Amino acid sequence: MDLVLLQQDGKEVVVTMLIFQAAIIYCLPTLCKIYSKIIGAKYFKADGNPDPSDILSPIDVDGHGTHTASTAAGNPIQDASLFGLANGTARGAVPSARLAIYKVCWSFSGCADMDILAAFDAAIHDGVDVISISIGGGDPNYVTDSISIGAFFAMRKGIITVASAGNGGPSLATVTNTAPWIVTVAASAIDRAFKSTVQLGSGKNISGTGVSCFNPERKLYPLVNGIDAARDSETKEEASYCYEDSLDPNKVKGKLVYCKLGAWGTDAVLKEIGGVGTILESGQYPDVAQIFMAPTTIVNDSIGAIVTNYIKSTRSPSAVIYKSHEVKIPAPVAATFSSRGPNPGSQHILKPDVAAPGIDILASYTLRNSLTAKPMSKRLNNEAEFAYGSGQLNPARAISPGLVYDMDAFAYIQFLCHEGYNGSALSVLVGSPINCSSLLPGLGYDAINYPNMQLILKSNKDTIGVFRRTVTNVGTSPTIYNAKIRSPKGVEITVKPSSLIFCRKLQKKSFTVVVKAKSMASMKIVSGSLIWKSPLYFVRSPIVIYST
Ligand SMILES: *[C@@H]1O[C@H](CO)[C@@H](O)[C@H](O)[C@H]1NC(C)=O
Ligand SMILES: *[C@@H]1O[C@H](CO)[C@@H](O)[C@H](O)[C@H]1NC(C)=O
Ligand SMILES: *[C@@H]1O[C@H](CO)[C@@H](O)[C@H](O)[C@H]1NC(C)=O
Ligand SMILES: *[C@@H]1O[C@H](CO)[C@@H](O)[C@H](O)[C@H]1NC(C)=O
Ligand SMILES: *[C@@H]1O[C@H](CO)[C@@H](O)[C@H](O)[C@H]1NC(C)=O
Repeated sequence: MDLVLLQQDGKEVVVTMLIFQAAIIYCLPTLCKIYSKIIGAKYFKADGNPDPSDILSPIDVDGHGTHTASTAAGNPIQDASLFGLANGTARGAVPSARLAIYKVCWSFSGCADMDILAAFDAAIHDGVDVISISIGGGDPNYVTDSISIGAFFAMRKGIITVASAGNGGPSLATVTNTAPWIVTVAASAIDRAFKSTVQLGSGKNISGTGVSCFNPERKLYPLVNGIDAARDSETKEEASYCYEDSLDPNKVKGKLVYCKLGAWGTDAVLKEIGGVGTILESGQYPDVAQIFMAPTTIVNDSIGAIVTNYIKSTRSPSAVIYKSHEVKIPAPVAATFSSRGPNPGSQHILKPDVAAPGIDILASYTLRNSLTAKPMSKRLNNEAEFAYGSGQLNPARAISPGLVYDMDAFAYIQFLCHEGYNGSALSVLVGSPINCSSLLPGLGYDAINYPNMQLILKSNKDTIGVFRRTVTNVGTSPTIYNAKIRSPKGVEITVKPSSLIFCRKLQKKSFTVVVKAKSMASMKIVSGSLIWKSPLYFVRSPIVIYST
């Protein structure tokens, strides 16, 4: 984790959740004055080798630690904008939180397991309240992955670990940081996107995505396809992506260049050899606004075809890229890059857990009013819960959830035994000998008290899952909750009892959910839900049925 240099000018745009460095957050030690945002910074590099492109200190040389930390806990900054874009007050999710920074990732050598574990140890010892870690790509095995192990030790001390689901989407089964004792967060988009209008010489306007802050100086610029500006016949293929050294500078000078997106930085490559800017074509990342160093925008394949056809249709093609503007889009929706389920670590646990704004954010975001987590729509994300988990997180409501699904270390060990981890593997995680066959077995289909339910249909057979859950009342009392079930077609869901009566705070009540699912086509996901509703609260659990 990196030392966080909060940007007082607020000019930083958090574009994606890169998985690189982690921040660890302290909340409100009352002795600290309000302006002491960062109350500690340490670095970890147990191999002792210097990193040639980094500094042996907690300082952030990459930028990722800064923007993840400011997104989590940055103070409100008024009139923040990027050259007028995303204008407003920028703030972190919890401006009152303090930060203790633990840098474990290094520019060149990356993030070592021993450093990650040492940082968890230090943070637990320092008494942090929340560990927020923006590192992923680890091992799906819960007892060998360093973040899973570190988070397990934190959980035993009552410290919650929050981690990114990863940037491996939209492919399925890419979600990382999937241990049930980690809150796994998908990246969603807010109702704002950054678009640029491109006007072609024919008069036709098309639209691309990205942050391009340049006002054109001319009405139109000559336009060339990179493949037609190759240095020679051997670099044609590379030139279609405008890779470095593949283009003839004489053929791109003073022009806009059309390129397929191969690697980031094409805008800089072109600028260096005298090009004006570039129209990039990519079908892959249409929702992420990159920030460009020259007039540039990204278009999808169908718009790309319009541009290439136009170039072919005329002897002197031309175009202009206008400065980006903000547009309203449907939201919330999971970002394409956000990693998807199903969970490679366990067939019983739905991951990611929830979604939170993670793209095109200027150190701040607004959430619309909603109930608990805001359910997200399958209409906008085909992969449904595998994209966004229980839905968009509502931080204001999350403070007062009404009911919670509680777990302790022993219950997690019962779950891990049920998952098939053996005693010797578990003793590494737990730190003492474990004999699964001498423990009380965990109950029900998944042997875990998790706030969502996931049933796997194997080889297209009708399947029944009996889920046992216990909720703890953390809201008002006395109070009554009534169950409301939503079942998808082909699935029957029942809950017993269908009312829960709480006479006092912290009282626990158990219930059983039976999910009967008819066979369905493989690789299909359908979902229903169980809602516990009281006069004040609305506690929703998604129930996901997935066929392998
Ligand atoms: C931001 O918005 C405010 C209020 O609408 C306006 O006064 C200010 O000039 C804007 N700033 C920029 C940089 O656009
Ligand atoms: C194309 O976009 C430009 C810039 O927004 C605008 O001035 C122009 O009127 C548009 N042309 C058409 C045909 O919509
Ligand atoms: C390409 O983008 C345009 C405009 O944003 C949109 O209308 C169209 O559906 C997109 N096509 C594909 C294949 O995504
Ligand atoms: C326990 O699991 C580990 C890791 O999967 C494996 O290497 C080991 O052989 C297993 N031990 C027993 C006794 O099954
Ligand atoms: C584990 O517990 C079972 C049941 O109590 C016992 O039969 C078995 O010997 C134990 N195994 C080990 C390795 O201690």
